[in-house]
Amino acid sequence: MEYNKKSVKDIDVAGKKVLLRCDFNVPMAKDGSGVITDDKRIRAALPTIQYLLEQNAAVIACSHMGKPKGEWKPELSMAPVAARLSELLGKEVILAKDIVGEDAQAKAAALQPGQILLLENLRYDKGETKNDPDFAKALADLAGAEGVYVSDAFGTVHRAHASTAGVAAYLPAVSGFLIQKELDVIGGALAAPKRPLVAILGGSKVSSKIGVINNLLEIADTIIIGGGMAYTFSAAQGGKIGNSLLEEDWKNYALEMIEKAQAKGVKLLLPIDTVIADDFAPTANDQVVAAGEIPDGWQGLDIGPKTVELYCNAVADAGTVIWNGPMGVFEFEKFAVGTKAVAEALSNTDAITIIGGGDSAAAVQQLGYADKMTHISTGGGASLEFMEGKVLPGIACLQDK
Ligand code: 3PG
Repeated sequence: MEYNKKSVKDIDVAGKKVLLRCDFNVPMAKDGSGVITDDKRIRAALPTIQYLLEQNAAVIACSHMGKPKGEWKPELSMAPVAARLSELLGKEVILAKDIVGEDAQAKAAALQPGQILLLENLRYDKGETKNDPDFAKALADLAGAEGVYVSDAFGTVHRAHASTAGVAAYLPAVSGFLIQKELDVIGGALAAPKRPLVAILGGSKVSSKIGVINNLLEIADTIIIGGGMAYTFSAAQGGKIGNSLLEEDWKNYALEMIEKAQAKGVKLLLPIDTVIADDFAPTANDQVVAAGEIPDGWQGLDIGPKTVELYCNAVADAGTVIWNGPMGVFEFEKFAVGTKAVAEALSNTDAITIIGGGDSAAAVQQLGYADKMTHISTGGGASLEFMEGKVLPGIACLQDK
């Protein structure tokens, strides 16, 4: 799916009220202390917020946090986000006590150009996830007759919710810089990649990556399979996989993908060796065996050294690399070698390197290679659906250029 959407630079926001959808769904400390453990998503929204404030817009920011399902859960309040955003912006962030109720309405009405208001957690209202038109209209009304809707919540563009899609029926809708960058980099790589395009797909389940594999088989020159899902491919080809992860129902699908790759002339690389463990534990005993020769009682937890070499060579002369999903159980030091080697290979190539959100983004960050990548997506599910070629409701609803 290709998009050519208007951004905040294509419209005049001066003196207007802007309803700004952000993805402030940040991880919070488990002890209920209200401490944000990673503020990356708040920082990622700053360029758009700062631009709007400099343009003299009055910003009504909103986001969801967690999944309160219409219940008013205090631990999912946006208050800690307001405090952190205020620190980062160096100015007051007014927090509404509700979403579209009396307090939000009064504060939005009184909001002056250059000021910023943050609404309470959108998912405190059931109308949000139901994409209820009345709730969407009430959100839009906060911005008034001259209002504008700016979406910068890339992490939620795969959701057709009131604040991500419904609201665009009532206000002129454009993207912020964060979405623009995701569209330019990921969209550009899918539509007109610098070749060869190498896609590295890992993670535990074939079932969660089918759409991506299928779509990338139409676009990529090479597809590399790693992580837990490689064992379903191995089993489908008659390999012995011991206690490794297996999705029995997806074996035929794996074979279909192998055939499709052959028919399309796409190189599909599967592990040739694997690091196995006698337990799913950081201290498990380990050894390296050929792929498809895993003894009973053992399970594959990482790609082996020959596979590392094969995969890193495939990345070396790539024009573009898209990576989604780790090569092994990288949370355990012993089984992080494959994921680390791929991250290092990506950091050394001249290729455009794009990391899908979620686990691969976490791996690249944890391993210290984040600043060596061209782009790390801020969307987990959203970047996956983008790579699947699906229509993203939160982007489709924005005005075309
Ligand atoms: C995310 O964390 O991926 C986004 O904020 C979307 O959250 P959701 O999966 O709860 O819709």
